Amino acid sequence: MEKIGLFFGSDTGCTEIVAKMIKERLIGYEVDVFDVYDIEGPEILDYNKLVFGLSTWHDGQLQSSWDDFYNSFSKLDLTGKTVALFGLGDQYGYSTYFCDGIGIIGKLAEENGAKIIGHWSTEGYEHDESKAQLDDNTFIGLCLDDDNQDELTEERVDQWVKQIVEEF
Ligand SMILES: Cc1cc2nc3c(=O)[nH]c(=O)nc-3n(C[C@H](O)[C@H](O)[C@H](O)COP(=O)(O)O)c2cc1C
Repeated sequence: MEKIGLFFGSDTGCTEIVAKMIKERLIGYEVDVFDVYDIEGPEILDYNKLVFGLSTWHDGQLQSSWDDFYNSFSKLDLTGKTVALFGLGDQYGYSTYFCDGIGIIGKLAEENGAKIIGHWSTEGYEHDESKAQLDDNTFIGLCLDDDNQDELTEERVDQWVKQIVEEF
């Protein structure tokens, strides 16, 4: 069975719940799930197919485990890796920093050789600015807002997982 490495960071548990939802839906794959808090870095290199998940905190800052991991992560050569990103944020409370974290990590992953898949439409969101945006209509990955739109999380995850399975 093909392997996927899913690496998440979560301060209050929301991103962790979504990581488990994504694993359950990646039927046909062996999915190894890692909390970034517990890793050194090279674990990522064991996988060609990767999913990275993180929330954004404190006006556009990376979730704390990803923040601590950032320097080690920046040294990894991701050439040949395919990466999908999902992020959690609050589009009304932090309207100019919505889901910035996946924008920061996705850009770095791409600079270090990864191919990014799983782009997502900005339709249905009301934020003002986001580093996760590639253009007016597109996020680099799945953006979720459990603070304001938790009723949409499950259907967004369902749709996105189908999309990344096609794109992997
Ligand atoms: C103090 C604080 C700062 C936050 N800053 C941001 C932010 O800058 N951008 C954003 O999109 N969400 C922000 N959020 C919302 C969180 O990212 C959101 O609640 C998320 O679901 C938390 O996920 P986690 O429990 O996996 O860490 C913030 C929340 C709090 C409480």
